[in-house]
Amino acid sequence: MTEQLTSPTPVRHTTGQHPGPGWWRDAVIYQVYVRSFADSDGDGIGDLRGVRARLPYLKELGVDALWLTPFYASPQADGGYDVADHRSVDPLFGSLEDADALIRAAHASGLRVIIDIVPNHTSDRHPWFRDPELARERYLFRPGRGTGGELPPNDWESVFGGPAWTRTERGDWYLHLFAPEQPDLNWDNPDVHAEFEAILRFWLDLGVDGFRIDVAHGMVKAPGLPDIGCDSQATLIGSQTLPFFDQDGVHAIHRSWRTLLDSYGGARIGVAEAWAPTPERLALYVRPDELHQAFNFQFLTARWEKEALREVIDASLAATASVGAPTTWVLSNHDVVRHATRLGSLARARAATLLMLALPGSAYLYQGEELGLPEVTELPDEARQDPAFTRRAGRSSGQEGLRDGCRVPLPWAADGPSYGFGDGGSWLPQPAGWGGLSVAAQTGDVDSTLELYRAALALRRALPGLGDGEMSWREAPDGVLAFARPGVVCTVNTTGRDIAFEAPGRLLLASTPLPVRGAAAVLPGDACAWWAI
Ligand code: BGC
Repeated sequence: MTEQLTSPTPVRHTTGQHPGPGWWRDAVIYQVYVRSFADSDGDGIGDLRGVRARLPYLKELGVDALWLTPFYASPQADGGYDVADHRSVDPLFGSLEDADALIRAAHASGLRVIIDIVPNHTSDRHPWFRDPELARERYLFRPGRGTGGELPPNDWESVFGGPAWTRTERGDWYLHLFAPEQPDLNWDNPDVHAEFEAILRFWLDLGVDGFRIDVAHGMVKAPGLPDIGCDSQATLIGSQTLPFFDQDGVHAIHRSWRTLLDSYGGARIGVAEAWAPTPERLALYVRPDELHQAFNFQFLTARWEKEALREVIDASLAATASVGAPTTWVLSNHDVVRHATRLGSLARARAATLLMLALPGSAYLYQGEELGLPEVTELPDEARQDPAFTRRAGRSSGQEGLRDGCRVPLPWAADGPSYGFGDGGSWLPQPAGWGGLSVAAQTGDVDSTLELYRAALALRRALPGLGDGEMSWREAPDGVLAFARPGVVCTVNTTGRDIAFEAPGRLLLASTPLPVRGAAAVLPGDACAWWAI
């Protein structure tokens, strides 16, 4: 039986009062995990020259901007999120000249560049932390509890597992919400504010188009650093406010950075990596005088189910509309299981991507998802470098430490020593058969995931109704989401079975071959289709 998708009373959403056009409002931003993207010098580690050499690929893919993960001088205790010098490039990744050349080349080909800034902590090799006097003022040192100060100052746990405190030789303790090599900065100290403003200016002067702000919800801690009173705190991140995350005080920092960003021309943006308990709390980070975007992790973590997806889409749009910001969408990044694996199948991943790219707002892609790469689950323990991995023995909570599985270097060629990643090996072993998923193997194959992404991004560019703007839900059979954008209807079948329905228009693109005979169409299980109306 064919079912109707049209509802006479569609629910409307808009992204509220637009404070003005901005490139980021509907941009598709591609995350480059520099270490694993392309290796220009054959040392097995991706670098900035490698990224520059592949700019034509990104241009052809059809994205608007790149976000580069940290490439600063760093001992690499946490993949570069432990910064020792914010104004220099680690020799592993190249030089400052290479960063400059990359930014210029990206701009010359019409791509914007966002870089990562890590303000919650530095490396323990940062000159401030190495100087005992400076360290006392600019980081968070406290005396221990217990008769001899042998117990940590409070019960906070590190996101990577174990206590969030490490004792120094002097006998006091310092706070690190992540690894011990990543001491937390003291944002009550004006020198810290001044230094980060200077760092932002340094890179803005070099021409970057904005910053992805790491742990944007973490810099301010509750006064007195109170106990939480329970274990397994990592499981609470993102579901409730903790004394070290999402404190109201962080917003003053973001407001001051917005003023700084606005003082530069060319619409430079700030993007919050913030884990907030509700879409409403997250929306506070994107108020008109704060950052431009925040990652929508509620969407990333939603179940593949009609009601769950609809609920998170509605809540995300309503929350951002209330402050006039665009919504963002993301399915994968360097910290989570790749969505081709997390959602249970490549079919679902392809459908989820088409769903994401049809929603109003901006979308983030993570390198390799356009190849349909799965999570690599079989890495040998000795190859793993995620700091949480070595800290997981004998503890009850914290990340599992398996983030290397989504960071395996990209396959560019069907064969060769590292499938075209570079002339040498690759810092994490690539699975056998990785070449079959390579850019070379998929290019020109219309059924490939790469060509699906290219087609979707080209259509998104060509159809002004996609991107930022209105959407309205349409009635649809059980398990099917259907919504209209100006000129386009998107239908998503979240069930595993074929569903027959009346085609809402002319088929534009589908995540899987889709039979249409006249007005009668069949939407296969776990598939998404875009229709011109
Ligand atoms: C980054 C992680 C990093 C952590 C500490 C995160 O949010 O995305 O990769 O381990 O911040 O800097």
